Amino acid sequence: MTKNIPYHVAIIMDGNGRWAEKKNLPRLRGHEIGGERVEEIIRAAPGYGVRYLTLYAFSKENWQRPPKEVSFLMDLLSHYLDHKLKEMMKNNVRFNAIGRLTDLPETIQKKITRGMNETKNNTGLVTTFAFSYSSRLEITEACRKMALEAAQGKLNPESIDEKTVSDHLYTAGLPDPDLLIRTSGEMRISNFLLWQISYTELYVTDKYWPEFTEEEFAKAVEAYQKRERRFGRTAPLEKV
Ligand code: IPE
Ligand code: IPE
Ligand code: MG
Repeated sequence: MTKNIPYHVAIIMDGNGRWAEKKNLPRLRGHEIGGERVEEIIRAAPGYGVRYLTLYAFSKENWQRPPKEVSFLMDLLSHYLDHKLKEMMKNNVRFNAIGRLTDLPETIQKKITRGMNETKNNTGLVTTFAFSYSSRLEITEACRKMALEAAQGKLNPESIDEKTVSDHLYTAGLPDPDLLIRTSGEMRISNFLLWQISYTELYVTDKYWPEFTEEEFAKAVEAYQKRERRFGRTAPLEKV
């Protein structure tokens, strides 16, 4: 189906721990296998017409996890950035990151900057990873930036509209997601893209993230294609 393509898909990749528990494996193994799914979905997404993929990898709240788990996740991220850049270049993928990146270890910050620079001219899938991300913090920081610009006379408070706010978020320049997927069955947003998902279609699956193969991704896209997006109108846009 080439109609109703979800151009921007955002994913809350949840359930690594429960998947491992179910299989009697250490929790950290769940994160490792989860990493494989990240690669699989990045490879598959363009085949469905997707142009932007935004992945919730680590929340600001996730820093409260046991130090061993946090450092494992940081090592995994570091390893990913060291080894997957070549493949991103080969597949024309643009690597992008959002979140309060200054919370991350400096070595990782450098790798992120390098990844963003090296892939900036790629014209294929824009893959945005959310690290140390909090939507409320993102909105708070946007308010602070706007207030500062207004105080400096660079921004007229009267001219602030929804686009001005969007342009001050970490996601400035990205379209709003069309489809938000959450794995592992939880019916919550967990502080992800609160502003950006105002009219996004939601898809929740009971599959744990390490089980979320291309086949599961295809099911989510198919479900999206059957939805009728109205944006508050009485009929879908194309039928008005
Ligand atoms: C998602 O899996 C990965 C991160 C939040 C980093 P979890 O680690 O939250 O797994 P569950 O939810 O405990 O099963
Ligand atoms: C959301 O998962 C964050 C990521 C997927 C990175 P969590 O496991 O942190 O969310 P809660 O705690 O179940 O809401
Ligand atoms: Mg979880």
